[in-house]
Amino acid sequence: MTKKQQHRLKVGVLGCGPIAQFAHFESCQKARNTDLHAICDVASDLVDRMAAIYPPQRKYLDYDAMLADPEVDAVIIATSDTFHVEASRRALAAGKHVLCEKPIGVSVEEVELLSTAVNASGKILQVGHMKRFDPGLEAARDFVRDEMGEVLALKAWYCDSTHRYTMTDAVQPLPIPSTAAKKPRENPKADLRRYFMLAHGSHLVDTARFLCGDIVEVNARLTEKFGAYSWFIDVTFASGAMGHLDLTVAVRMDWHEGLQLYGENGSVIAKTYNPWYYKSSDVEIFSEKDATWRRPLGADGHFYRRQLEGFADTILDGVPMRGADIIDGAASVRAMVAIAESVRKGHTIRLSDAQGPV
Ligand SMILES: NC(=O)c1ccc[n+]([C@@H]2O[C@H](COP(=O)([O-])OP(=O)(O)OC[C@H]3O[C@@H](n4cnc5c(N)ncnc54)[C@H](O)[C@@H]3O)[C@@H](O)[C@H]2O)c1
Repeated sequence: MTKKQQHRLKVGVLGCGPIAQFAHFESCQKARNTDLHAICDVASDLVDRMAAIYPPQRKYLDYDAMLADPEVDAVIIATSDTFHVEASRRALAAGKHVLCEKPIGVSVEEVELLSTAVNASGKILQVGHMKRFDPGLEAARDFVRDEMGEVLALKAWYCDSTHRYTMTDAVQPLPIPSTAAKKPRENPKADLRRYFMLAHGSHLVDTARFLCGDIVEVNARLTEKFGAYSWFIDVTFASGAMGHLDLTVAVRMDWHEGLQLYGENGSVIAKTYNPWYYKSSDVEIFSEKDATWRRPLGADGHFYRRQLEGFADTILDGVPMRGADIIDGAASVRAMVAIAESVRKGHTIRLSDAQGPV
């Protein structure tokens, strides 16, 4: 493992729910440049149990009390989607840097307000689109930027599997629940279209943007049968490239995620695994220059730890942000709103016209 750096970021984690238990506490411990300084949850049973496993310097039941701790440099926001914007704004106002789980928000208006707050704060805000730290996708992105020339077209798919929990239960510890956990007033799973778009569509849209840049318009169709949902989304990128995004939840087979990307001087084919296998995407990069395929191993597939190290590098050493910033996070929310509206209206929607909630 990489040696721990001397120069370190003290992190406070808000939320001791599943994503913090599965990814963020361990990432704070393993990262070469961070310390898990504080943890916070309104559920005291969760705080105590997590503190026994990942001992922090401080435990908090109140978020404002954690934000008042002068030793906390940055917070990781690991709460339900609807709390992201408010928790991020409070952290920025308290002078803390923010790594917030995806999606950064649930409506165009709230993420625009947050954007203004980020700009005024002078602090770093990174959105937890951790696939940007998948070494295979990073290699693809480097190839697109440095060698591929103009992008012609992207096909990308993100298809959750009916067998997902059987597979993840085999490799993850069981999540520790609490009846005292703070939940949104409305059950996020009450509207599955919205829930799947926010939970999964946010990843698909961000991966498309990561590789091909801004999306200007979408034309989407949705089919629902036997409890499964399939969105086929035609996309136009600002570069003029076209895209086809397939979001299907759930396919009757293994997790199925990947992409094909065609460019002027080469092509990329990628297969992405369920994130909890911590396995870098299998990415094949073909360059016309030598008519040869390259296939990086990407041995370190701990996307969550790598995104945290990148975030800390930006704060501690001014390294340019490799993750999604507030502009990227807000653009993904706009794209999800536009996709939902395109399904409802049956025609193309420009992202600049998107408004309201996902
Ligand atoms: N990047 C990924 O791969 C990935 C995977 C899963 C989930 N997520 C995201 O992670 C986020 C959290 O998911 P989860 O399933 O852990 O959520 P959860 O709602 O089950 O848990 C959140 C915890 O935060 C606590 N909390 C919320 N607001 C609080 C407050 N103001 N003060 C103190 N405690 C507070 C709750 O009590 C709860 O214990 C979601 O936005 C989800 O989209 C990301």
